[in-house]
Amino acid sequence: MSEAPEPIPAASLPISASAPGKCILFGEHAVVRGAPALVLAIDLATQVLVRPGATTSLNGDPDAGVGQPYFRSALELFRAGRPALEVRSVSRIPRGAGLGSSAAFVAALAAALTSAGGGGDRDSLAERSFDIERNAQGVGSPTDTSAAVAGGIVALNAAKGERLWTIARGSDRWEVRRLADPGWTWVVAFSGIRRSTPDAVRAVGERLGRPDGPALLERFRRVSEEGIDALVREDPEGVARAMGANHALLKEVGVSHPRLEELLRAGAPAALGGKLTGAGAGGSVVLLPRAGREIELIRRLARAGGLPFAVRVAPKGASIVGAALENGS
Ligand code: PMV
Repeated sequence: MSEAPEPIPAASLPISASAPGKCILFGEHAVVRGAPALVLAIDLATQVLVRPGATTSLNGDPDAGVGQPYFRSALELFRAGRPALEVRSVSRIPRGAGLGSSAAFVAALAAALTSAGGGGDRDSLAERSFDIERNAQGVGSPTDTSAAVAGGIVALNAAKGERLWTIARGSDRWEVRRLADPGWTWVVAFSGIRRSTPDAVRAVGERLGRPDGPALLERFRRVSEEGIDALVREDPEGVARAMGANHALLKEVGVSHPRLEELLRAGAPAALGGKLTGAGAGGSVVLLPRAGREIELIRRLARAGGLPFAVRVAPKGASIVGAALENGS
């Protein structure tokens, strides 16, 4: 039997919480329309510290409660009519890079506020984190927030894996499952080009709304299923093949970028495969290094102007920092 996901314990302020960034291996954009996706929680994290304050602020900015959409949306959901809070956040995840900086911030903050409100289960944290992100962005799927809340490797709308939770909004429904981590090292590289997720999601939505949209979505679905099957059988060549096929589809719907193509070309000799990751139109690429050639791959990507990171799967989702110490376990 599988264990229930670990709940968020109650604590009193000040509370610090941390959540991982993410890297989508298969299915970005198509997942917004219910196709399968696979996402890794990665070992770059965001940490927040929440404490009582004279006025509500984020990193010293008293206007963030109005001007920073994710912060505003979190306060609306958790703190309407409650006393002011001073929030600080630090992150190793580059912003606007498709590596889940917003979802990690949202999940860490939601975990801290859940804890301050008496604790709660992880399913509700996943729901609330998604609501905060969706209220702030206006569009999107629970892919990023589910990875930030669950940690590990997470599949959406896939037949494989251990069921975690289901998130439904209107006629949209995403079933979230956990897959085992084969323990590989991945390399991601930020192109330096920040872009807007909602704009890219709307452009792809428009493309998939054309007459050949359903056939195109079916191709996305098949590639994600092949990639997920390959990961489950721990077949790196199969995973790399599906990454390449997924990238070709993303290029076809117009979300690649010349800088991303350059990075993928530069990294190719040291990688089994690679693709853009996240909304695209800038942002980052993810590559699966050839065995023993991780450093060479990082050098190649850096020489081509990218900001590379070697990442591994972060097994732990959003959590209260120091909770184990406080509980004496
Ligand atoms: O914001 P990003 O770059 O992490 O992209 C998220 C993935 C999309 O599928 C493009 C949108 C979504 O919400 O699923």
